[in-house]
Amino acid sequence: MRYKTPTIADFVWLKEVCREIHVKNRQVGKADWCGHTFDFSCPSHLTYPFQWFWDSCFNAIALSHFDIDKAEAELVSLLKNQHEDGFVSHVTFWQRDAYEEMVSTYAIAFRNKYLTDEMQPPLLAEAVSAVAQRGRGNEFLKEILPAVRRFYDWLHEVRSPYGDGLVRVVQPDETGLDHSPKWDELMEIKDEENSSWFKGWNLICDKYLPFNRDPKQMFEVDYFAVADVMVNVIYIENLRVLAKLCLQLGDVAAAEIYSARAERARESLELLCWDEADGLYYDVNGKTNKKIRVNTFTSLMPLLLSDLDSIKRDRLMKHLLDPAEYWAKYPIPSTAMNHPTYRPDTVGGNLVWRGPTWMNSNWYLARGLIRHGRMDLARHIAAQSIELVRLSGVREYYNPGTGAGWGAPDFSWSTVLLDLVEEVL
Ligand code: GLC
Repeated sequence: MRYKTPTIADFVWLKEVCREIHVKNRQVGKADWCGHTFDFSCPSHLTYPFQWFWDSCFNAIALSHFDIDKAEAELVSLLKNQHEDGFVSHVTFWQRDAYEEMVSTYAIAFRNKYLTDEMQPPLLAEAVSAVAQRGRGNEFLKEILPAVRRFYDWLHEVRSPYGDGLVRVVQPDETGLDHSPKWDELMEIKDEENSSWFKGWNLICDKYLPFNRDPKQMFEVDYFAVADVMVNVIYIENLRVLAKLCLQLGDVAAAEIYSARAERARESLELLCWDEADGLYYDVNGKTNKKIRVNTFTSLMPLLLSDLDSIKRDRLMKHLLDPAEYWAKYPIPSTAMNHPTYRPDTVGGNLVWRGPTWMNSNWYLARGLIRHGRMDLARHIAAQSIELVRLSGVREYYNPGTGAGWGAPDFSWSTVLLDLVEEVL
């Protein structure tokens, strides 16, 4: 098969498209409830006006290519309401009072009226690194790193309860992959209705209410305590990046701490999540580490790790390049195309992560391919992703076969594609 390659003209065109998206989605103001000013790109000015954690990390990486001040502001805003224990909420409802009706439709756990009690995939260190590198370097790092470190320390102290070094999520939306079919069994989901998902979400979260979502007791419940492969690959990668950033500031002791945490989680990922029979990595749940054997793109995420064993890498690549599984016209589908739950378009009441292609997962997996010497494949994914934008605009997600765009229009994190295109040029 001949693979495609993006051109410099594509990059120039895409950069302008991305710039426009961030202008449209920028939210600037002051919130009376906390007394802080804010300046960030919401996911989509039409449907999601608030600040989401991992969305903002992707946004900052994209913005670092054309507006370094806004890139810095994105991360600074994200950290303004960091909690005393180091935790950073996955949504900051800066302007909640203007959108009360919208918020009432969300299934979400709150710490207080404006801040959630949920985490999202921890790619903060990667975002900080990108912004520092293209901007003010060590000056920015010195300002932001103490807060960033407190967040990773919180993950270690609170969210890694079993001594294996892996981070656990206590409900599905903490992975950012809200309606992934990986959760169907635990959520007792048998159809594709939004109402069933809400019921399933309550089934899990209601168990935490009697003790006010105390983290220790949430893990004691031992119902949903998932070591998600994607979350942990991102965690490992980010601990490694954080260690480098600490070294850059001359803090060798801190760098050693984060490197050691990364290596501990790295070993456990192999031990607990690798499935020799299927040649895939699976999430594990609870104290018994029961495998969740559903084939989604997260099973391929260890490709991001440059120290992946070559035999395992080849087995993952076989899945990736199988046209029945992941090698669609517009790769990479979020659920394997031969899995019974695969739906290439939006389903039910807008359930997400059940098939369509997303730009953030493409960004991660394509960069993994580069690390394993497959620049040709990374270029092809980048080129086909550009074609998606030309065909259907900057959408939340796309049909892997037809390229039809779905979900929110003008979706901010999809602009992280710009970073990938620059890397493969
Ligand atoms: C959806 C996605 C989640 C994202 C949010 C805002 O809920 O599944 O990952 O953070 O939208 O864009």
